[in-house]
Amino acid sequence: MYSYTETSGFFGQTSPELLAERYGTPLYVYNESILRERIREMKGILKEESFTVNYSIKTNSNLSILKIALEEGLNADAMSPGEIHVLLKAGFPADRIFYVCNNVSDEEMRFAIEKGIMTSLDSVAQIRRFGRLNPGGRCAVRINPGIGDGHHKKVITAGKHTKFAVAENDIDDAIKAAKEYDLKIVGVNQHIGSLFMDPGYFLEALRSFLSLAECFPGLEFVDFGGGFGIPYRKLSGEKRLDLNDFSAKLTDIVHEWRQINGAKIMIKSEPGRYIAAECGVILGRVHAIKNNYEEKYVGTDIGMNVLVRPSMYNVWHDIEIYRDGKAVDDTFGSEAVTVVGNICETGDVLAANRILPVIREGDLVCVLDAGAYGYSMASSYNNRLRPAEVMICSDGKDRLIRRREELDDLLALFP
Ligand code: LLP
Repeated sequence: MYSYTETSGFFGQTSPELLAERYGTPLYVYNESILRERIREMKGILKEESFTVNYSIKTNSNLSILKIALEEGLNADAMSPGEIHVLLKAGFPADRIFYVCNNVSDEEMRFAIEKGIMTSLDSVAQIRRFGRLNPGGRCAVRINPGIGDGHHKKVITAGKHTKFAVAENDIDDAIKAAKEYDLKIVGVNQHIGSLFMDPGYFLEALRSFLSLAECFPGLEFVDFGGGFGIPYRKLSGEKRLDLNDFSAKLTDIVHEWRQINGAKIMIKSEPGRYIAAECGVILGRVHAIKNNYEEKYVGTDIGMNVLVRPSMYNVWHDIEIYRDGKAVDDTFGSEAVTVVGNICETGDVLAANRILPVIREGDLVCVLDAGAYGYSMASSYNNRLRPAEVMICSDGKDRLIRRREELDDLLALFP
C-alpha cells in the first residue's frame, strides 16, 4: 500500500506529528508546489493566447492561496460580496474579478457595480434588476446549454433540473430585457457542474454553449466554466483526467468556433477543484475506538463541521494513517472500520465501512484531497472551532496561514 503524502514529499521538511504538535488538530495542511503545478496545468488546457483561467474562490479562499493564484497570473470568479471583498484584499484588481451571482439583491449588485466588477446575470429578472440600477451598463449573461454533469445531482448546474442560468428558450427575452435598459451584453458564461473525469458531456455542452453564444452580437468574452475532476481514489490507482487529450479536443472546438466568430473574443474558464483539491489534506487525531454491535468505529476530531463533503454528498476521500512519524501500511493487518467525527449527528461519518490498516488510539488520520470545498464549507456547528491552516512552502518549511478559531470568536458577533 503506497502513501500519497510520503511519495509526493507532501509534508516537506516537517511531518504530520510535528505539525499536529505545533498547531493542534484538526489541521488543514496545503502544499505550495502541488498548488502551483495544478495552476500551471490549468493555464495550459487551451492552446491559445486569448485565454484566461479564473480561479473559483468558493473552492478555497485562504488569502495565501489567493495570493499564489494571483502571482501565477490567474483571474478570479466570485459568487458573493464576501468573495469579492476577500479577492480585492488579496490584491486582485477589480477588472480581473468576474461576479457570477445568483438571486442577488440590489445592495449586492450595487456593491459590484460601484467597484466596476463585471457581473454575470442568470435570469431575466436579474437582468432587469441590474438594468434598473445601472442603465446603459455592461454585463454578461449565464446560459444553460441544456446539458449538465457532475459527481452528484446537487452539483449539476445546467440541464433541466437546476436553478441556474438562462435556458435556451429564454434567451430572446434576456436580450429584450437588456435592450429595455440599454445594457450591453459583452460576455456569456456557463458552468455545467462540478467534477467530470470523462469530458464527453462537457465538450457536448461546450458546442451547444458556443452555438447559443452566437445569439449575442458584439461579445468580448465567452467563459466555459469549470468542473475538471481529480482522482479522489488515487490510493487505489484511479487515473487522472487525461488533460492532453482533453486539451486537444477543447482547442479544436474553440479554434473552429473562432474562425467564424472572430479571433478577438477572450475565452475564459473557471476551475476550482482541479487547482485546490490535491494540494490540501486534513490531519486529525484518533481519540476513541469502539465496537457498537457489529460495527467498529474510529472516533476522530475531524467532524462534519471541518469537512462536510462525505456527509453531504456521500463521497469518498482517501485516508492515510500516520503513527510515529510514518504512514502505516497493512503489515500488521487491516480491517473494515467506520471513521467518524465528534459532532452530535449519526451522519457525522468520514468514511463508512472502510478497509484501513489496524488503527490505534493516538494515531493521526490524514484525509487526502481536502483542499477544495474543505475549509470553505467548514462551519462552527456544535460551537466547534474552525481549524487552523498551514502551508508547506516550496522550500519545505511550514507556515501558519490561518489561525485556529478561539472560544471568544464564538462570542464575537453578539452585541
Ligand atoms: N464556476 C461556477 C459558476 C461554479 O458554480 C463553480 C462551482 C465553479 C466555477 C467551480 O467548479 P469546479 O471546477 O470546482 O468544479 N461543494 C461541492 C462542489 C460545488 C461546486 C459549486 N460550483 C463539492 O464539494 O463537491
